[in-house]
Parts: sequence; structure tokens; C-alpha cells
Amino acid sequence: MLDYRIGPETKRLEHRALTVDDKEAFFALNSDPDVMRFTGEPRLRSLEEAGEAIAHYPDFDTVGYGRWGCVLKESRSIIGFCGLKYLNEFDDVDVGFRFLPRYWGRGLATEACTASIAFGFDVLRLGRIIGLVLEENLASIRVLEKVGMRRDGSITYEGETVLRYEISR
Ligand SMILES: CC(C)(COP(=O)(O)OP(=O)(O)OC[C@H]1O[C@@H](n2cnc3c(N)ncnc32)[C@H](O)[C@@H]1OP(=O)(O)O)[C@@H](O)C(=O)NCCC(=O)NCCS
Repeated sequence: MLDYRIGPETKRLEHRALTVDDKEAFFALNSDPDVMRFTGEPRLRSLEEAGEAIAHYPDFDTVGYGRWGCVLKESRSIIGFCGLKYLNEFDDVDVGFRFLPRYWGRGLATEACTASIAFGFDVLRLGRIIGLVLEENLASIRVLEKVGMRRDGSITYEGETVLRYEISR
């Protein structure tokens, strides 16, 4: 199986799989109430939990790709994550993203998401990529629209009704 721990580079970002050494950045992101509000996931409560979550993240070992940490080139720090996730229950690949609030509104999610989708089509040769989002998550919906995804109804995912967006190669 191919290994895509190193992801695409964009004007302002590099993408790479997180390691346990990134647990402080991962904790900052996933414990922030503003970041986690519409994700449907519980907030991390400790650095230890963050390290465990990274250590047990299976996707790069099982399917070869996954959500990458986004490294801001200008500071060399991890400011968010973005990437593709294979969803077994739908046999589809979903694009997801999350950034620290102080970096919101600079087009970084759009830049990262565009690169993830191009990676999915050009490297993985996927036919379709989906995006799942709570209808209250207006910023996220806007990002999905800006990268060219189209809304196609709603589905139940992990017990929540979510809007389903998709884009085809
Ligand atoms: C969603 C998120 C990644 C966007 O990151 P970002 O880097 O600010 O995104 P961008 O700057 O590329 O684009 C954001 C767009 O949403 C718009 N937006 C922001 N808040 C909005 C709101 N409350 N209502 C409507 N549009 C909004 C911005 O104006 C911008 O659109 P524009 O370029 O047309 O002006 C960021 O808000 C985040 O991390 N949210 C928490 C995690 C999350 O919900 N992730 C998605 C789970 S599906």
C-alpha cells in the first residue's frame, strides 16, 4: 500500500501526518470550544489524551492517507488539520478541516481543502469526494462551496443529521 504521510504543499501551508510530538498543537486545536462547537466530537481534556489520539489514529496505516496536520510555513507551527478520510459506512471519502481560531478568515481552510481535493483526484484517482457538515456550521459550508462542492441532501452520520456536499472528478 502507498504511504501518503506527506501531503500537498500550498502557497502558505505544508501538510504532513501528525506524530506524538505534535500533541501540544493537537490539544490546543481539539480542546478549543469554538473549534469543536460544530464538529460533533467531544473536546480533548488533556495532553495525554491528545497523544493517545495521535498514536492510535489508524488511517495512514489502514488506507494510506488521512487528515494531515497543516504547518504554516511562515512560523513552522501546526495551525490546524485538513485531509481526506475514508468512511467505511458510506464507502466514500470525506474532506475535513479544522483550524485554530486566530487563523480563521485568511482563506487558509479554502487553500488546504482545495489541495486535499486535488490530491484525492490527481493522486488517489478518486471519482468523488464528499463533505459532511452540520447546517449551523456556516463558515464550513462556505468553505465547501468555495472549493466547488455542491449540496446533495442530508444524511445521518454518527447519530447526527448532516448536510452532504460532493464534488466529482
Ligand atoms: C470552518 C473553518 C475551518 C474555516 O476556516 P477559515 O480558514 O476561516 O476559512 P476561509 O477563510 O478559507 O473561509 C471561510 C469563509 O466562511 C465565511 N464565514 C465565516 N464565518 C461565517 C458565518 N458565521 N456565516 C457565514 N459565512 C461565514 C468567511 O467569510 C469566508 O468566506 P468568504 O471568503 O466568502 O468571505 C474554521 O472556521 C474552523 O476551524 N471551524 C471549526 C472547526 C469546524 O467546524 N470544522 C469543520 C467541521 S465539518
